[in-house]
Amino acid sequence: MYRLLCLLSFAGLALNAAAQKKDLLQPKPTVLRLIDGNLRQAVNQYKVLMGKVPADRMPKTFYANTGRLETSDAGWWTSGFYPGTLFELYSFSHDTALGNEAQRRLALLEKEQYNKGTHDLGFMMYCSYGNGLRFADSPRYKEILLNSARSLSTRFHPTVGCIKSWDSKPWHYPVIIDNMMNLELLFWATHESGDSSFYKIAVTHANTTMRNHYRPDYSSFHVVDYDSVTGVILAKKTAQGFADSSAWARGQSWGLYGYTMVYRCTHDPQYLEQARKIAHFLLSNPNLPADKIPYWDYNAPNIPNALRDASAAAIMASALIELSHYVQPAEARGYLDVAETIIVNLSDNNYKAVVGSNGGFLLKHSVGHLPAHSEVDVPLTYADYYFVEAMLRYLELRKK
Ligand code: GLY
Repeated sequence: MYRLLCLLSFAGLALNAAAQKKDLLQPKPTVLRLIDGNLRQAVNQYKVLMGKVPADRMPKTFYANTGRLETSDAGWWTSGFYPGTLFELYSFSHDTALGNEAQRRLALLEKEQYNKGTHDLGFMMYCSYGNGLRFADSPRYKEILLNSARSLSTRFHPTVGCIKSWDSKPWHYPVIIDNMMNLELLFWATHESGDSSFYKIAVTHANTTMRNHYRPDYSSFHVVDYDSVTGVILAKKTAQGFADSSAWARGQSWGLYGYTMVYRCTHDPQYLEQARKIAHFLLSNPNLPADKIPYWDYNAPNIPNALRDASAAAIMASALIELSHYVQPAEARGYLDVAETIIVNLSDNNYKAVVGSNGGFLLKHSVGHLPAHSEVDVPLTYADYYFVEAMLRYLELRKK
């Protein structure tokens, strides 16, 4: 009898704990409603953008002062985000105007599967064709993605243990933290083909980056330059940040997102630990403002008057929502709180454009490359992409 009572009370406690966990991680109805409205507006706003982009180009940014839409060809690193966002919005709305436009734009990207001159094929092809696969189990899309993974793999050097980022001087064998994002394509390729070489390249790159890009406080350098023969580290620098020793905001978000994704693809706890430590650096950073929209660099000289970077915020929100699935409830709630704060603040008129304005982009106030005076305080396709992804990920919490 006593054992039965113990068993029943243990079962009761376990049920109670599970219910408490479920309660703690519930999405907030107010945020769900906000997101629903945002996504409906986003569908209309992307129709505005659709009306502006020439048929053979991809959007990059928009300059409100001159009304100029800047576009790129398919070889530019951001070319996958526009079709990717269209697919994301199609998944929400089932509006065929967006789905058809996404497919039309994929055609522009097709030749990039053979591009061996960039490390950005993950961004370009997986954000576009990878999202396309969610709607059509297309053997052709899969072949294009596999060829893209093959092209990306040619940039891996086993002695360095990394995929090379740029071919330009004065660098020797530069690897930038952003490159973590391109690994998802390689994990997908092994899953799809059974060829483990892609997986091995991805984990080797992740391990080398974890060793050499991260400082003891879990902030990341932007660029590590290696000797291309010996793999010896030549320099740790920045290209887009304020200083070599600073924490460039988008780079920190790429790392957080990257290691969370690598944990999802490998189930190796060392990557989860890495992601948690990066999250701790960011969320406890005295220079992260209360609204959780980072300055463009956590060490920018003129904080609190430094520019904010909405793209860094959107990437961080999306990563934190994913990371919340892999940790204990109290920690998960902390990540969701920050993600909610970011989504709510990016939804404010200060950041989110009124439909018909901002050249058809969703968000204002991102920083592309401040030291080069390029794309400073402007809309950017990747800010929109990760903002929409974060909102869709938040909606998914309803199913948990
Ligand atoms: N990958 C380039 C950037 O984040 O600006």
